[in-house]
Amino acid sequence: MNQQINIGLFGFGIVGNGLYEVLRQSPATHATISRICIKNREKQRQLPPEMFTFDPGDILDDPDINLVVELIDDAAAAYTIVKSALEHGKSVVSGNKKMLAAHLPEFITLQAGNGTGLLYDASACGSIPVIRNLEEYYDNDLLQSVTGILNGSSNYILTKMFSQGLDFATALTLAQELGFAESDPTFDVGGLDALYKLVIITVHAFGVYVQPGEVFNCGIANISEKDMQFAREKGRKIKLVAQVRKNPEGSLSLYVMPRMVSPDKYIYNVEDEFNGVVIKGAFYDKQFMFGKGAGAYPTGSAVLSDITARGYDYRYEYKKMKLDGRPAFTNNANVNVYLRYSKESDLNLFCFENIRERYYSDEFGYVTGLITLENLHRVRDLLAGMDVFLAEI
Ligand code: HSE
Repeated sequence: MNQQINIGLFGFGIVGNGLYEVLRQSPATHATISRICIKNREKQRQLPPEMFTFDPGDILDDPDINLVVELIDDAAAAYTIVKSALEHGKSVVSGNKKMLAAHLPEFITLQAGNGTGLLYDASACGSIPVIRNLEEYYDNDLLQSVTGILNGSSNYILTKMFSQGLDFATALTLAQELGFAESDPTFDVGGLDALYKLVIITVHAFGVYVQPGEVFNCGIANISEKDMQFAREKGRKIKLVAQVRKNPEGSLSLYVMPRMVSPDKYIYNVEDEFNGVVIKGAFYDKQFMFGKGAGAYPTGSAVLSDITARGYDYRYEYKKMKLDGRPAFTNNANVNVYLRYSKESDLNLFCFENIRERYYSDEFGYVTGLITLENLHRVRDLLAGMDVFLAEI
């Protein structure tokens, strides 16, 4: 049934504005924005003042509002809003990956208890409907891995550095100006944004929830010309890649790190703010989803898709979470990496299982070889402070 949806919107930033415009131009929908709750009282808005409120209660306690759409930046405030909305019996659409990655188990229980629905396809990969596809189509145990470029800003920066010779800071500023980056862009370039998306994807791909803090992530903030030169010499591009994979003995590993990608891979040609997701299964081999991963309209259209899905009472059922024999998460798995460093003392913090290649010069060195995710996770918090660049190879 396609029911009338009266939306209470929290946040009217880049994605909120994008949603407003997408909704305005979308003739088929039965959804209208009734009220918008915002924080900043000073900012000039294009809409009539009576559309806005500063009091969340004006949305949460309004019986005519049957859907809360949460598009704010602050994960702690978003958690309070989403929890309160679900407790008030209102369904919710959210795009806040950090908040969702931290609180999904609680929200899954809350929805099951009161029949509300929480949809969040917009939280991972912008306009690509990856969550709903994993939830509905890949509903079997044949799935082997999900691998993707999940952060549009990092991909945009790497594209501009690699193909156009821009420096990191200029490329990041452009990504911010275009509305791709988070308000704190270290989330993008540090690999955290991709990590949160990967945690959400893993719930829907494998029915397994892993706390973000348990997963190794590193980003592109330390990339240098030397690393790009190394990649070019090997005929590769550097991409920030997130992966969840089943290991040969059946356990599950997740990680986010830059990767030297060869031209025969689907993600090699994913450029700018686009995202690309490769889904690998035992019998169908690889399938590839591609689309814009950031920006007002691509993300706004994903939010609209979740809104219309609520119009026919669609909910994620988390069927895979109810299966017996789900794979157990482990960091006890090897990855083959390139590590560029300038101080031997930094290199000594990494315990390689074996080293395949070594290079030294007065200025810097690199090694390539196998290392466990456990080992990398142990030094994760030190990485930002060291002059090292790590990439899977
Ligand atoms: N900052 C995010 C990105 C926005 O660059 O992908 C979309 O989630």
